[in-house]
Amino acid sequence: MNPFKYGCVVCGENFCRRGEAERQLRRFAESGQNVVVQGPRRMGKSSLVKKAISDMHGMNLVYIDLYYIGSLSDLCKRVMAGIAGMNSKMSFIRKVMSLVSHLRPTLSFSTTDGSPIISVDARAADDPNSLQTVMELLEKIASGGKTCIVFDEFQDILRIPDADRVMAEMRGAIQFQPDIPYFFLGSVRHDMMAIFSSPKSPFFKSAAAFEVDTIPRKDFVAFIGRRFAKGKRKIADETASRLIDVADSVSGDVQELCAALWETTNDGATITEGDVPLALEHIFARERKGFEKSIARLTPTQIAVLKGLAATDEAKIYSSQFLDSIRIASTGTVKKAVKRLAADELVYEWNHTWRFVDPFFREWVNRKI
Ligand SMILES: Nc1ncnc2c1ncn2[C@@H]1O[C@H](COP(=O)(O)OP(=O)(O)OP(=O)(O)O)[C@@H](O)[C@H]1O
Ligand SMILES: [Mg+2]
Repeated sequence: MNPFKYGCVVCGENFCRRGEAERQLRRFAESGQNVVVQGPRRMGKSSLVKKAISDMHGMNLVYIDLYYIGSLSDLCKRVMAGIAGMNSKMSFIRKVMSLVSHLRPTLSFSTTDGSPIISVDARAADDPNSLQTVMELLEKIASGGKTCIVFDEFQDILRIPDADRVMAEMRGAIQFQPDIPYFFLGSVRHDMMAIFSSPKSPFFKSAAAFEVDTIPRKDFVAFIGRRFAKGKRKIADETASRLIDVADSVSGDVQELCAALWETTNDGATITEGDVPLALEHIFARERKGFEKSIARLTPTQIAVLKGLAATDEAKIYSSQFLDSIRIASTGTVKKAVKRLAADELVYEWNHTWRFVDPFFREWVNRKI
């Protein structure tokens, strides 16, 4: 079994402890503080919040994933799923169903693990009053004991046709629940900014900001060593550190690279930097079609800028050094090209430098283009 996991929320021994970040989130939950949790994709937002809250003594977690919702009834369904996931005791489930009776709830059981599923009638849930019903339900459930309510991929609320009204009503309800900590997670920065930092938004300045950063290197290096040791494989700290660099310190990508190294080496082996190219080839083989598609859409100038960014650490795109390296004299041209690359979600700006959304795409551009 490959001990490296990626593309899912991780817990238990697959989760590298994040000491201070976990403590800070627990302090927020303890004090009933609402929080916006942001950070780049695959950095570990969902895993961190779930771990921090579920490790708290006497704190319940209602985890509501809004990924790709498109309507009010989707929102109601996800809230119900989050509530059913908190406590699967039948007495609790029946009580919840009675509290939302006019959404015409029905009960079924998951075919995979037998857990209860509460479905609501789509037409009833699309009625504008349904939001008030589910917000009141959250309040009733959370006000008895300690409960943290987490909305993940919260920016997808903007996909609901009358999102402004829905957000205003939600905010109105949350405002009167000062003891209940609401955590709002999101990875699409400009949408999260529009929700929490725009004066026009009902959620303007309504929550403390928390940024999920990279896992402290020393801890991640030790974690990587422990995981490789599962197959009696050894890795020097400097090599593990180098892997973190190759994957741009993005938690999920570091684990993906380690998983590929696991696939391409044997038990008992000592992992060295020399093993990295084969592991990358392993990843490229899976991703090549998508990478080629991304390149095919670009003009020669855009490709030149992309190659320049791939070859430079911490690229400052208007420096003369960068312009010389790509042989383009005009900053306007570079600006336009970068804008297009960002619109295609190939690169993004972080701390005033440009980074690749996918570090393996950067490696591929460096090695193959
Ligand atoms: N604390 C951690 N220790 C080890 N690996 C982690 C940790 N947190 C995240 N990861 C890695 O990152 C991957 C993505 O984690 P998670 O889904 O929590 O991130 P996210 O920021 O919520 O991502 P998304 O933006 O896609 O929602 C995990 O599958 C795992 O490989
Ligand atoms: Mg997530």
